[in-house]
Amino acid sequence: MRKTSVYIETLGCQMNVSDSERAASTLCKNGFKLAPSTDSADVVIINTCSVREKAERKALRRVEEIARSRGAEAPLIGLMGCVAQLEGEALFDYAPSVGFVAGTGATERIPQLIRKAVAGKTFDLGERRSPFEGDLEPAFRHSARVAFVPIIEGCNKFCTYCIVPYSRGRERSRAATEILREVRSLLAQGFKEIHLIGQNVNSYRPKYDGGPEKFPGATPFSRLLRAVASTGMPRIKFTTSFPRDFHADIVKAIDENENLCNWVHLPVQSGSDRVLRAMRRGYKVVDFIRHVEAIKGARRRISLTSDIIVGFPGETREEFEDTRRLVERCGFEGLYIFKYSARRGTPAAKLADTVEESEKTDRFQSLEKLQASAQQKIYTDFLGAEVLVLAEGLSARSADDLTGHTTCNKVVNFRGGRDMVGKIVRVRVDELKSHSLYGEALGVL
Ligand code: 5AD
Ligand code: SF4
Repeated sequence: MRKTSVYIETLGCQMNVSDSERAASTLCKNGFKLAPSTDSADVVIINTCSVREKAERKALRRVEEIARSRGAEAPLIGLMGCVAQLEGEALFDYAPSVGFVAGTGATERIPQLIRKAVAGKTFDLGERRSPFEGDLEPAFRHSARVAFVPIIEGCNKFCTYCIVPYSRGRERSRAATEILREVRSLLAQGFKEIHLIGQNVNSYRPKYDGGPEKFPGATPFSRLLRAVASTGMPRIKFTTSFPRDFHADIVKAIDENENLCNWVHLPVQSGSDRVLRAMRRGYKVVDFIRHVEAIKGARRRISLTSDIIVGFPGETREEFEDTRRLVERCGFEGLYIFKYSARRGTPAAKLADTVEESEKTDRFQSLEKLQASAQQKIYTDFLGAEVLVLAEGLSARSADDLTGHTTCNKVVNFRGGRDMVGKIVRVRVDELKSHSLYGEALGVL
């Protein structure tokens, strides 16, 4: 019998990428096959993001685009991920081409959903039964060199603007023994880099703290970091960290282990104490600066990146200036700036969205400009320097170039041989771009 083919399109964060990998694996174990594109697929699944309105609209737009482009041959279209979880059945009204909806806990049950959807629209908003357990064959991973390993899902922080606690539920940590087993298996499969992922990785707190017993640490997360480092995986990154739960012991663990990479993503969101309080972030600017100083005090230079929201309800021009001052002070090596977007059901959505769209754009651009010039100064230090790059593949721009990331997570494109793909390469940087470095391979490590 001909196998039904499925194409999964992923929007949003690494957790969605990871869920798509697991959905693909489950589908293939259950008699489906993967399609190379939306054009030929019998079933198209869009893995959706709801963190901002723009992302949510994009998901619905994609549904209509796919349905329209295939005309009478339209595939069965399903939605998974955060929008699916939040909106559920209502999506059948918003987007009539949708045939099934799989919430954030329903990844493993997508094969059954597809079979049911053939008979009529259906949805599943139930919980995950076996969180991330089971083996994922390398072929289903988004990359053959870099693997995402979920360690915690959901969020208990309830920052007032954020939809994540509603779309992903309460924090659930994965058992350390299971994480360590997966990392060892990835190492045996030839992966060179892993990212421990979760909405707040440093809030990691499994119910049973077994696995890293013999590793010291001030928090379960720093113990986990040391245990994961002991597996010998060449490069270990982790994202995202939450400032309130950031312990200086994380920096100490990085100091002690060369394979814990020199990159920390620590979203500050605002540089004003009043706005931070209104966001219910649970820390003040001085606390954040203390973390920044701990990070800057590390033995190796650690690249610090962050997120900022501009135009939170009630944010005054003066409060925005406080954010600018904080950004100037911290020297972020990368900054993701977002215009506040009201999310239905969150506490902040009840506040009047007082900052005009044009003013949000103004603040966005002003911060972007400030960051661009600060970043260029930081990047200048890399000119002429030698960096270690995991060659992840050929560059999309030029057939002669390879592309990869440094240990501090900067994108580097470089001239080198195809045989270097999959290896850690010494690269001399000879050119700076606004968000990447360019250079020449000196040799394989
Ligand atoms: N509006 C704008 N940005 C948001 N983020 C989360 N929720 C919102 C929202 N409602 C941003 C935060 C977070 C990043 C992933 O997305 O900066 O760190
Ligand atoms: Fe959202 Fe705050 Fe949780 Fe981050 S910490 S996912 S911003 S509620």
